[in-house]
Amino acid sequence: MISLGLFLFSSFLCHVATAGRTCPKPDDVPFATVVPLKTFYDPGEQIVYSCRPGYTARNGIRRFTCPLTGLWPANSLRCTPKICPFAGILENGAVRYTTFEYPNTIHFACNTGFYLNGSSSAQCTEEGKWSVDIPVCIPVTCPPPSVPKFATLNDFKSLTKNHSLYGKKAVFECLPHYAMFGNDTITCTEHGNWTKLPECKEVKCPFPSRPDNGFVNYPAKQTLYYKDKATYGCHDTYGLDGPEEVECNKFGNWSAQPSCKASCKLSVKKATVLYQGERVKLQEKFKDGMRHGDKVSFYCKNKEKKCSYTEDAQCIDGTIEIPKCFKEHSSLAFWKTDASDVKPC
Ligand SMILES: *[C@@H]1O[C@H](CO)[C@@H](O)[C@H](O)[C@H]1NC(C)=O
Ligand SMILES: *[C@@H]1O[C@H](CO)[C@@H](O)[C@H](O)[C@H]1NC(C)=O
Ligand SMILES: *[C@@H]1O[C@H](CO)[C@@H](O)[C@H](O)[C@H]1NC(C)=O
Ligand SMILES: *[C@@H]1O[C@H](CO)[C@@H](O)[C@H](O)[C@H]1NC(C)=O
Ligand SMILES: *[C@@H]1O[C@H](CO)[C@@H](O)[C@H](O)[C@H]1NC(C)=O
Repeated sequence: MISLGLFLFSSFLCHVATAGRTCPKPDDVPFATVVPLKTFYDPGEQIVYSCRPGYTARNGIRRFTCPLTGLWPANSLRCTPKICPFAGILENGAVRYTTFEYPNTIHFACNTGFYLNGSSSAQCTEEGKWSVDIPVCIPVTCPPPSVPKFATLNDFKSLTKNHSLYGKKAVFECLPHYAMFGNDTITCTEHGNWTKLPECKEVKCPFPSRPDNGFVNYPAKQTLYYKDKATYGCHDTYGLDGPEEVECNKFGNWSAQPSCKASCKLSVKKATVLYQGERVKLQEKFKDGMRHGDKVSFYCKNKEKKCSYTEDAQCIDGTIEIPKCFKEHSSLAFWKTDASDVKPC
């Protein structure tokens, strides 16, 4: 056993002596392969570098022979990635990329309102070509909108090309007696469809009831519909609480239910009051009593500070509460200054 090892070692030494030094494994060149690849080479043996697919060789020699010195010559070979054609611009869209070199992938996206016809990404291949055709961005269009039942398409033009562009709007109107539920305007979306269609529903309102001490007028028809109107009024001394005109709304209800309220008789004979920002004589302004809802401000005296302030009183359905601070003077007490003539506090 020992003799065999000794024999192999001596024959190795002999080999080195007769054939010169062996070359080591050659230096790595990025993205290149060496053929043949071994751990050592005899002098005179040849190796060839070649760039891997997708890479091109630049400055440098590719073929080497192991010299007697056993040292490979310096190698300046470089393998650089192939570059695919410029693809950095996509009309109405954007390209996301780092470089156009092998083996990178670039990504495409279209602006809102456009869709991609083609692949959303492309890879630079070994041949230095894109794996797929560069896509294009095509404007999104919607088909002609459908019209809801009992509605008409209003304000819609430019059906020239039988389709509508992204963002286009169409406006619907319901037939008379029909009320719209939903948005009257639809828009062509980025998905090429329209936003939700509204609905038109027939809406009836009950006949409005006559208010006590008043009357109501409405169209002499079998049925009252959406948008029909009714008007209210009150008898002689009564005042309307609510609007004069009401409308049948889309929920089958009237917009308001006015009633008639009694006027107020005034217990005060003589007073200067504020009414709608003006000083008026109560007994003249409200000869026929105050109407429901009328509001006045009475003047009161602050005895300590010798000044005047006001307190409100309102006629509510036949009742008005005169402020307690208000003092009515007898017409004989002419020497007393009325609160309304005292400087305000
Ligand atoms: C999308 O691209 C394909 C192939 O390039 C083409 O045949 C087709 O007509 C395009 N579609 C539109 C809507 O342009
Ligand atoms: C428009 O669309 C309608 C229905 O989709 C179709 O019948 C008609 O041929 C189209 N007209 C044009 C000019 O494309
Ligand atoms: C109806 O839709 C339009 C756009 O489509 C929007 O601007 C508007 O605010 C919507 N109206 C209502 C009442 O939701
Ligand atoms: C429009 O199309 C998109 C995508 O297909 C879908 O999510 C959406 O629900 C559609 N909208 C309507 C109103 O049909
Ligand atoms: C009508 O209005 C009344 C009071 O405002 C309400 O209680 C009722 O539910 C409404 N009816 C309908 C049909 O909306």
